This record gives sequence, C-alpha cells and structure tokens, in this order.
Amino acid sequence: MTHLDPTAHHDSTIPSTTESGAPRESDAHSLSVGADGPLLLHDVALVEKLARFDRERVPERSPHAKGSGAFGELEVTEDVSQYTKADLFQPGRKTPLLLRFSTVAGELGSPDTWRDVRGFALKFYTQQGNYDLVGNNTPIFFLRDPMKFPDFIHSQKRTPDSGLRDNTMQWDFWTNSPESAHQVTYLMGERGLPKSWRHMNGYGSHTYMWINASGEKFWVKYHFHTDQGMEFLSNEEADRLAGVDGDYHRRDLFESIENGDFPSWTVSVQVIPYEDAKTYRFNIFDLTKTVSHQDYPLIKVGRITLNKNPRNHFAQIEQAAFSPSNTVPGIGLSPDKMLLGRSFSYPDAQRHRIGTNFNQLPVNQPVVPTNSYDKEGHMEFLHSGDAPVYAPNSYGRGYQDAQGPVENGWESDGEMVRAAYTLHAEDGDFVQPGILVREVFDDAQREGLVETVSGALSTVEEPVLSKAFQYWKNVDQAIGERIVQAVMAGQGDDQPGGDPKNA
Ligand code: HEM
Repeated sequence: MTHLDPTAHHDSTIPSTTESGAPRESDAHSLSVGADGPLLLHDVALVEKLARFDRERVPERSPHAKGSGAFGELEVTEDVSQYTKADLFQPGRKTPLLLRFSTVAGELGSPDTWRDVRGFALKFYTQQGNYDLVGNNTPIFFLRDPMKFPDFIHSQKRTPDSGLRDNTMQWDFWTNSPESAHQVTYLMGERGLPKSWRHMNGYGSHTYMWINASGEKFWVKYHFHTDQGMEFLSNEEADRLAGVDGDYHRRDLFESIENGDFPSWTVSVQVIPYEDAKTYRFNIFDLTKTVSHQDYPLIKVGRITLNKNPRNHFAQIEQAAFSPSNTVPGIGLSPDKMLLGRSFSYPDAQRHRIGTNFNQLPVNQPVVPTNSYDKEGHMEFLHSGDAPVYAPNSYGRGYQDAQGPVENGWESDGEMVRAAYTLHAEDGDFVQPGILVREVFDDAQREGLVETVSGALSTVEEPVLSKAFQYWKNVDQAIGERIVQAVMAGQGDDQPGGDPKNA
C-alpha cells in the first residue's frame, strides 16, 4: 500500500535543499555580516525555516486530541453476505485499515492514563471508497441528542477562569443529564482505565444499517473484542504512570508492533431485523442503551490486526480524518440523532483543522478514484484537469451518478418538533446502569466503583455533591449509600478534600 507508506529519505548523501529545490548552503549557520555580525533578511533558507516552524502546529482535535494508531487489515473469516453486500465484509476479503486510539478530554500532550473513555476510530480503505467506523471502548455514550455534545465536552475540559480541570463542573453536567448514568458507570468502572489500547474492546456504539444484495435492511451493532484479553490499571498505577510516562499507551502500541507482536480484535455484529426496532423493549437508536446479547447474539465476522506503525506521526495520525459520514454501499446510518449530528460535525471540523482538501492527503485518500465537481480551496493538488466543473453539461464529459433509489434510507414522517425520543417499554435513564452494577459487576468491581466515584466526588462542591449522591442512589440504592458513606468518611480526614480510600 504505497499510499500509506510515503518513502522516507534517510540517505545522508542526498543534498539538503530549500523547499523550492535549490541546494542549501548550510543547515547550521545563518547568513550574517561577518561571523559576529547581524543577520540578513534575504537569508531565504533561514527565513523559510523559521516561517515553516512558526506554522508547524495545526489545531488539535477538539475532543480526542491525544492519541495514536497503526495500520493493519480486516480479514473476513465468516460469511455475513446475507446481511450486507458491502465489499469489505464479503467472505475471505482482506481490507487495509487505520485504527486510531485516543482519550477524549485531555489535550495533545495529556497523559494517556487519565481516567477517560477511549476512542477506537477505524478507517477501512475499501474497494468502494473509505468506510469509517468511529467508536469508543464502551458500547454506549453519555448523551442521546447532539445538541448537548459541545456542552458536555466543555464540562469535561477546563474552567474558563483558572484553566483548570474541575470535578464539580464534570459532575454538574452529568447529574443534570441523567441519560449519562450508564456511560458514567462504565467510565467509573474498570473500563475507564484500560491497561493498554491493546487490552481493551472497541464498539461501533451506534446502531447502523446493513443492506444485502436483495435490498433487505438490517440494524447492526459492531463489537471488536480484544484477542489480548481485557486488562485494566488500578487508580494508583494509572496515577503513577501519568507522572512517569504520559505516553504509556502510545509507547506500548508502537513498541509491540515494532517487536512483531501484532494486536488483534475479533469482529462481531449483533443483527437486529429491521422491523424489530419499532417494538424492541429498548429504543435501539438511543445511544445510552445496549441491546441484549440474549435477544440478539453476537455473529462473528472476522478479525482486525494491526501490523504496521506510522512512519510519520503527524502526516499519518495527526492529519488522519475519520468521520461517521464515510459510508459505503451496503452500509447506512440510522435514526440515531447523535449519529446524524456527528455525520455533519467531523468533516466540518476537519475542513477547519486540516484544510478544505484534507481528503487529498495520502492517509485520507481512498484507494479508488474520486470524481466529483467539488474543486479548488487551499492546497488542492488532485484535480480533474480540464473536465467540466459543473453538472449537468452538454459536452458528454463528466461523471455519472448512480441515479438509483436511496438504498440506505428509512421511512420518516411527522411534525417537526424538538423533543426526546418516544419511550420504549423498558427505557429509563437508570435501568441499564442499575443492571450493570447489580448483574454484570462482581463484588470487587462494585468496590472499585465506590472507591473511584467517592474519590472523584471528594472535591465536588454543593449543590452538585447532593445531586451526585442522588444520581448514584438512582443507579442503585445500595451503591449510592456506600458512596455517600465513603465521601462523608473521607471529609473527616486531614487531607484537603479527603481521600475516601483512607476511610
Ligand atoms: C473526534 C464531534 C460523539 C468518538 C471528534 C471530533 C469531533 C467530534 C468534532 C474531532 C474530529 C477531528 O478533528 O478530526 C462529535 C460530536 C458528537 C460526537 C458532535 C455527538 C453529537 C461521539 C461518539 C463517539 C465519538 C458518540 C463514539 C461512539 C470519537 C472519536 C474521535 C472523535 C473516537 C477521534 C477520532 C480520531 O481518532 O481522529 N468528535 N463527537 N464521538 N469522536 Fe466524536
């Protein structure tokens, strides 16, 4: 895949040049009037070098700024062609991919081991164009309406005055947004501190559409189960690592691949018949809900393996642009409002963050030709020559559209409203988090949850603290009471804010 592997020049006999190709007289010395004299503006080599240095940074991703990734392959080992005609999921198919992992709230230089959700962003370079699946290491999310997403991210980042991160602000948003409870329970549990990116699962999180060759539609949820086994860090270990090696996860991935130890994940889907969505006990388009594996068991698809490190982090990882809007024939979006909001937000962010023609960069370029009437903008270098720049045109030169029906749509009718989803039989913000705490977590995991939540709440101020106590009692009365006790006991300590672990 040459487009993923720009050839690096490591040959020290190659002359150093300016960006316009002329030989550089020196990489070490500026042009001066005498050895001790002032510098000269017409030292083009120095001016160019400093000017380029001044412009090295592009804006970091607004969420998910800190991360890294690697290239690899999806191998389809099973036959799921009865559910989708997408080329990448056909039996035996091997498709190259890029997978980027990230934290959500921290900035570009923040430690990898701060408690957070982890991003799990896939770009498949398929024969039908790029297919991006931009998920996380949890099967659900904090919200169900994109209108709240910027507020959510603001509350997890830094306060406007001091520029500090602030637990009160975080919990204020969560406790005033009860739909966050399921994801917050995951986050305060073990998944908030994966041992490495290799030791965590990934999820598509949303419900997506699959369409087979006969046009039949299904709803699917993607699961990527780590073949390395799920492993986690303790709070103490994560804190220690944040101090001694902020790039712990980035290093782990790079070194594993460098050593030929290629991490892999088993790919499965839950397939939900199209009509079931209307009557299923949970709303499958509500991103705060999971779909029971008993009701819709996992169906294996294949395996993804990471086997190649980036050669240049900036060009291949920092400038990588993933978007849920990148779908291919045989795959569609769904009525999940979060997903629909995201399908606008990512390419919009990338036009700003990287530049209008970000899809022309090698890491983002599809392996198939692109033919569109979009043109110009900063840094265009792929172009259509003298082909007509508009359609329709009378010159028989141009591109043909599919002119077919919308194969990945769904029916929709009704008044325009601003409203929450209609409720299904068992919907409710605290139903699934309660099940998670009582039926999925074991005693040790419940103990860890109490320790982590009470530690986080130890610096939270009123009135948010009382709301947080009620939030956890709504998740589970017994857990809520244990959290209250731990926080209260911790407040008696000499330590400012108290440390419930000492209680
Ligand atoms: C990154 C917006 C929800 C996973 C981003 C970026 C934006 C964004 C603007 C930066 C893109 C870039 O600069 O390249 C939103 C909005 C959301 C939303 C508006 C809700 C309406 C989610 C959800 C998930 C998710 C639900 C996971 C299920 C990610 C990941 C990245 C990311 C993994 C990093 C991608 C990469 O590695 O480059 N998001 N997001 N986001 N988001 Fe979201």
